[in-house]
Order: sequence, then C-alpha cells, then structure tokens
Amino acid sequence: MATSDAIVIKNLKKSYGKTSVLKGVSFRVKRGSMVALLGPNGAGKTTTVRALSTLLGYDSGTLTIDGYDVKTQPDEVRSVIGLTGQSAAVDELLTGRENLEMVGLLYRLTSRSARQRADELLHDFDLVDAADRPAKTYSGGMRRRLDLAVSLIATPPVIFLDEPTTGLDPRSRLAMWKIIEKLKSQGTTILLTTQYLEEADQLADRIVVIDHGKVIAEGTAKELKSKIGNDRLELTFDDIATYDAAKKLLVSSLTGDDDKSLTVTIKINDTNADVRQVLSKLSRAKINIASMAIQKPTLDDVFLQLTDKKDS
Ligand SMILES: Nc1ncnc2c1ncn2[C@@H]1O[C@H](COP(=O)(O)OP(=O)(O)OP(=O)(O)O)[C@@H](O)[C@H]1O
Ligand SMILES: [Mg+2]
Repeated sequence: MATSDAIVIKNLKKSYGKTSVLKGVSFRVKRGSMVALLGPNGAGKTTTVRALSTLLGYDSGTLTIDGYDVKTQPDEVRSVIGLTGQSAAVDELLTGRENLEMVGLLYRLTSRSARQRADELLHDFDLVDAADRPAKTYSGGMRRRLDLAVSLIATPPVIFLDEPTTGLDPRSRLAMWKIIEKLKSQGTTILLTTQYLEEADQLADRIVVIDHGKVIAEGTAKELKSKIGNDRLELTFDDIATYDAAKKLLVSSLTGDDDKSLTVTIKINDTNADVRQVLSKLSRAKINIASMAIQKPTLDDVFLQLTDKKDS
C-alpha cells in the first residue's frame, strides 16, 4: 500500500433527494502534506469531509485513506483519522482534562499515557488554567480548541479540520494556526476546510477550490495566483502636476489611476522589461517618482474571478 497519497477522492457524488450537492469531486492529498478545501457557504466542504470520515454515506465514487477504502473498510479508516467538525464532540459535564483522558482511554491508551497526552495537549492549546472546569463553562473559542485537542489525543496520521478557525478571535486564530503548523511539522496529513483565503494561503501546500459541488480550480497558492494574472506596477507622485504629466505620458499602458493618492497603476507582463521601460520613459521626460511598488494578485482576486465565472 506504498502510495504517496494519504487521501484519494475519485469522482465523489452525493445527492439529497433530487438536489445534487457533490457532482463528481476528485482530488488527492499527498502523505504528510496539507490541502485546503476552499469554498463559499454551501459549496460542499463539510459534505466531502463527512463522507471521507465515514460519517455520511455517498452515492458513488472511490474514497481511500491510507490505502483503506472508506466504503468497505470503515473501521480501518476510523483507526487512522482524527476529525474536528463544525459540531463539537465534547462532553459538556466533564472538565477539559476529563474529556481528553476519556477519549484517550477510548483509543486504548493506558491511563498513564492518556494523562500524559492530556497534559501535553492542554498546554499546547492554552487550556491549562481551564483544565479542571467543566466544558460547559468554556467560551466558544476554548471549546473549539478543546474539540481539536480531543481529536488529536491518539495522534492519528490523517486529520480533517472542518473550519477550525471560524468564529475565533484573531489571537485564538493565530494560536490555532501555530498548532496546525506543529501538526504539519510532525508529518500529519491534513485536510482543512476554510472560507478564509488568507488561511489557505498561509497554511496549505495546495488549495482545492470547490463551488456548487465541483472542483473549479486546484494548485499551490502561487499557481492559482499566476493563473489569474499579472503583477501590477504602482507609481506614486509627489504633486498633482507630476502625477498629471506621468498620466499623460503613460496613457497607453495605464490600467488605473487615483488622483487622491496620486498613484497610477500599470499592468505588467514581464517584470524586468516592462518596469525598465516605464522607468526610462519617465526618466527621459524628467518626471520624478515618489514611490513605487509591484503588487502581486491576491488569492481574493483569484477566488472572486473563479466563483464569478461559475455563475455566468
Ligand atoms: N442533510 C441534508 N439534507 C439536504 N441538503 C443538505 C444536507 N446537508 C447538506 N445539504 C446541502 O448540501 C450543500 C453543501 O453543504 P455543506 O455543508 O457541505 O457546505 P459547506 O461547503 O460545508 O458550507 P459551509 O461553509 O456553510 O460550512 C448545501 O447546499 C446544503 O444545503
Ligand atoms: Mg461546512
């Protein structure tokens, strides 16, 4: 079973009655890597993750995790995955520590190693102070961290994180990112769903964009951005007279201008050649630049363009 892919999804289809919510989703996640499944509300992210984690039957397609078939070997699949969902699996009446130890025992850790592992996770997830309070007294963010901690008690090789940072404040989000980075550095294979482009950009090795139950794009953040297009050169001037002169001179290549910030924008294809050409044009006309910047397209640009296209 020595394949380099920890997760393989081939042509996954799922309908509810007449409504088809997954229309043939296919992608792979390399062992030890992280893929972000990115898409707007209702795209089919949770449905995909629930199907992969044996929680939801599907109509057709082939799903394998660590070489095990999800349909015919669900027990084996469950033994290699950890899942944190949008609905938490925490016992409200138990304390954070008790929740962790209980799940540890369920995973057949000895009580000693369950205790040890619980201590480690409470520390990693910044829950030491709250460890001995019942979970029902936790805030939303604390509960989410406990939920993630619980799913990691047995250090599964494959983990699904369904929107792990939704609803977290910026500080908790950064803490969660750190935890995810740590998991990744330990060689865990991670499939993360998110609506945040920035999160996908920061954390994931590859991004799969899904919309209306279909994969609409796939690649590294860099590849996706380069698909969309060009870098932009932004030039800012000191005063309106210089700005106007530059605008006139560069009129044929301008893609934008803003007379409040005295900035013009030029789309560039070849960074070196185009920038050089613009600068020498300005220099020949003795026009001074106050500042300049090369802007790369953002994932937001990519996402908007992709999801727009879909609707037209
Ligand atoms: N039990 C169900 N019965 C009918 N339709 C469902 C059911 N569960 C999900 N759906 C529909 O399937 C589609 C995909 O839902 P899913 O929860 O996978 O989206 P998502 O990408 O996770 O969205 P979100 O970002 O809001 O979590 C939605 O249109 C949803 O309404
Ligand atoms: Mg969801």
